[in-house]
Amino acid sequence: MKYRTLGRTGWQVSEISFGAWAIGGSWGTVSDDDAIAALHKALDLGINFIDTADVYGDGRSERLIAQVLKERSEEVYVATKAGRRLNPHVAEGYNRENLTAFVERSLKNLDTDALDLVQLHCPPTACYYQPEVFGIMDDLVQAGKIKHYGISVEKVEEALKGIEYHNVKTVQIIFNMFRHRPSELFFKEAQSRMIGILARVPLASGLLTGKMSKQSTFADDDHRKFNRHGEAFDVGETFSGVPYETGLDAVEEIRSILPEGVTIAQFALRWTLMFDAVTCAIPGAKNPKQAEDNAYSSDLPAFTAEQMAKIRYIYDHYVRDSVHHRW
Ligand SMILES: NC(=O)c1ccc[n+]([C@@H]2O[C@H](COP(=O)([O-])OP(=O)(O)OC[C@H]3O[C@@H](n4cnc5c(N)ncnc54)[C@H](OP(=O)(O)O)[C@@H]3O)[C@@H](O)[C@H]2O)c1
Repeated sequence: MKYRTLGRTGWQVSEISFGAWAIGGSWGTVSDDDAIAALHKALDLGINFIDTADVYGDGRSERLIAQVLKERSEEVYVATKAGRRLNPHVAEGYNRENLTAFVERSLKNLDTDALDLVQLHCPPTACYYQPEVFGIMDDLVQAGKIKHYGISVEKVEEALKGIEYHNVKTVQIIFNMFRHRPSELFFKEAQSRMIGILARVPLASGLLTGKMSKQSTFADDDHRKFNRHGEAFDVGETFSGVPYETGLDAVEEIRSILPEGVTIAQFALRWTLMFDAVTCAIPGAKNPKQAEDNAYSSDLPAFTAEQMAKIRYIYDHYVRDSVHHRW
């Protein structure tokens, strides 16, 4: 495992880290045993950064992480998120009372005195134009409740606006073989401010593993079934917003250039690491086998210029029209 500096936090974090949404909920059934084993496997392989949120399984993900970390001695950074407990999810909800209550609840779930990193959880765009929201986060740092804060965004425009607030240390954004736009302007701007970047949904919700087909089915409580058209939250979070069958066709092209002995998931993850601005990818994993498969992508050789060009071609040819202007 290789490590990169997470912006101005100064932390050295594993370039493949762990996304803990699926071990919380909304991805079909994942047993506690599998979730715990996946986390242990990730830590055994040198992963030292975990991304979660207070809403993943209504706190289950945070509590499982706390349970596992009690059994470990190495330093592990845990990033959580706040805001999505709001119902309705509106900008006015990002006020002192609510944010403080969300942070207090995550402190309990994670069983700690101070949260390492709290990300505003894809707040409405209006929040980025309200300095008072960021002032509240500053006060929570001042009070010792959180060490650093950042933002998780839907759109490149939100990321560009958010990093104008000096104390925003990290940005989490969808970046994968099916989402190239962050690498155009945003990465350059983020690098000039030493912002840590977390590449989320790096496997396009599992599409970029090559295991799916037209016949694949998903459980009722899996967002790949219930949010296929954005019924519950932004459709960009499910298969990166790429129409499913288009994604399958694009994956077949990727398969045709896959180096020997490498899985499509590993190839997709290694691609995200080709960009220096990216601090880490945070693939979700539901069991130890997936965690292990993903961790090894850090050891793969760099892409050749030819391979990079081919991925760009696949993006332009299959995917660009459905995503590029939206996020
Ligand atoms: N709004 C936000 O802030 C937000 C939104 C989305 C995600 N995130 C964060 O980003 C993380 C990653 O995104 P994601 O979990 O949505 O999507 P992802 O990482 O693109 O896909 C994860 C899913 O792919 C499958 N998978 C993973 N590794 C695999 C492997 N090696 N082989 C085969 N299948 C594999 C698993 O599901 P199956 O086995 O069921 O296919 C897994 O749950 C999340 O866990 C969360 O921490 C944040």
